[in-house]
Amino acid sequence: MRVLTGIQPSGILHIGNYFGSIRQMLNYQGDNELFVFIANYHALTSLKDAKSLKENTIDAAISFLSLGIDPNKTTFWVQSDVKEVLELYWILSSYTPMGLLERAHSYKDKVAKGIVANHGLFSYPVLMAADILLYDSQIVPVGKDQIQHVEITRDIAVKFNNDNGNVLKIPTFKTDDKVATVPGIDGAKMSKSYKNTINIFTTQKELKKQTGKIITDSTPLEEPKSYENCNVYKLCELFMQEDELMELQIRYRSGKEGYGHFKASLKDAIWNYFSDARDKRAYYTEHKDEVRDILSDGAKKAKKIASRKMEIIRDKIGII
Ligand code: ADP
Ligand code: TRP
Repeated sequence: MRVLTGIQPSGILHIGNYFGSIRQMLNYQGDNELFVFIANYHALTSLKDAKSLKENTIDAAISFLSLGIDPNKTTFWVQSDVKEVLELYWILSSYTPMGLLERAHSYKDKVAKGIVANHGLFSYPVLMAADILLYDSQIVPVGKDQIQHVEITRDIAVKFNNDNGNVLKIPTFKTDDKVATVPGIDGAKMSKSYKNTINIFTTQKELKKQTGKIITDSTPLEEPKSYENCNVYKLCELFMQEDELMELQIRYRSGKEGYGHFKASLKDAIWNYFSDARDKRAYYTEHKDEVRDILSDGAKKAKKIASRKMEIIRDKIGII
């Protein structure tokens, strides 16, 4: 199966991103043909600072390579390195009813939040459709917020195929129902917009600070505590093995330790969990040329498929 997904280069990655989407994506690596790109054209709809966009793009590449993307198994590139996507975006625009985009939740939510609407923001799903359809993608793993965009992609593809024959592959989205929402340090959904994150790549000192701020109840140190609804325990569940969790439950019930101790255990677990990724990140940060080579190889592979597909599409619609 060809599995494709795009990543917004949005700066800091937190553990909600990891358990909510990155891990799911990496599960496809090896058994499937995985295509992953950094959606820098999409990022342009919200980020207008050239220096930050350049830095975030490379930074995202480094982070994802460090967290497990293997360029020998996965085609990994930067969206803007394959310009065919923009041509398809324009072509698909003529098959996209206005109403389809006007109903998009993501667009409506952003406008409701006061973000000034521009055409890029409005037509964002058409570019996403081009990303998906250009590569004959069959499966698109996404977070719940992106499901509608894949549905829009399907609608556009069906409309195109009705007029031009069976040219575009109709993709399906995949979300991981097993993944619960990862709570932030205040117990609400972890999100960079709520400023309640625990970040993947951070210093030990900062990690201590972030885990130290997790909100708990005020049961005194010497009293037994319940782990069931504790934010610290919930996060420990993501990082610890079954036997470690059993041990932790005993510590909660014993009434000999306070939340500070449990937070320290969580901090150690997170630190160890990402130890390999941190080493790789340090390596790639020192070897950015290697990162650029990986992206450029990926772009070459992606472009080959894209240009072949565009020849077929142009011919079908009469672009000479
Ligand atoms: P943020 O909310 O921090 O801006 P994004 O919207 O950039 O995060 O999310 C990127 C991906 O990570 C999405 O697929 C989303 O579903 C997933 N994700 C983000 N936060 C969480 C969370 N707290 N729990 C589970 N998944 C999450
Ligand atoms: N819109 C996606 C997000 O914000 C990123 C993205 C762009 C994408 N193009 C895509 C995801 C194509 C899947 C397929 O997360």
